[in-house]
Amino acid sequence: MIASGNRDEARYERPDVVDLERPNPRQHLTFSVGIGACVGSGLARLVLQEAVGQLVARLGGLRLDPAAGTPELGGSMFRQYSPLNVLFDAA
Ligand code: HEM
Repeated sequence: MIASGNRDEARYERPDVVDLERPNPRQHLTFSVGIGACVGSGLARLVLQEAVGQLVARLGGLRLDPAAGTPELGGSMFRQYSPLNVLFDAA
């Protein structure tokens, strides 16, 4: 299971923490590995970088909505927060 493998505490220190300073950020299973690896991973990375960058740049004060409670991870193949309720300041 990719979702489980990406959170293997024997491989990743504090696997459930979003740590942008990890020494091994490219060593994950999200796009699978080997002959069946995702052929769209380069495009996916590009789109995600652009989308997240634009979200953060355009939505000032982007933050979790405290009224929505703590977001929960779901999904068996891929782990995801759904929904992920956020607030931001009006421009
Ligand atoms: C965040 C976005 C994406 C994730 C997490 C992802 C993840 C994956 C994973 C885990 C596999 C392997 C599935 C398996 O082993 O059964 C896969 C395969 C594949 N992905 Fe993606 N993918 C993403 C985006 C894309 C995009 C944007 C494209 C195309 C433009 C794409 C095209 C493919 C194709 C064609 C395969 C099959 C490769 C093969 O069997 O040789 N994916 N993807």
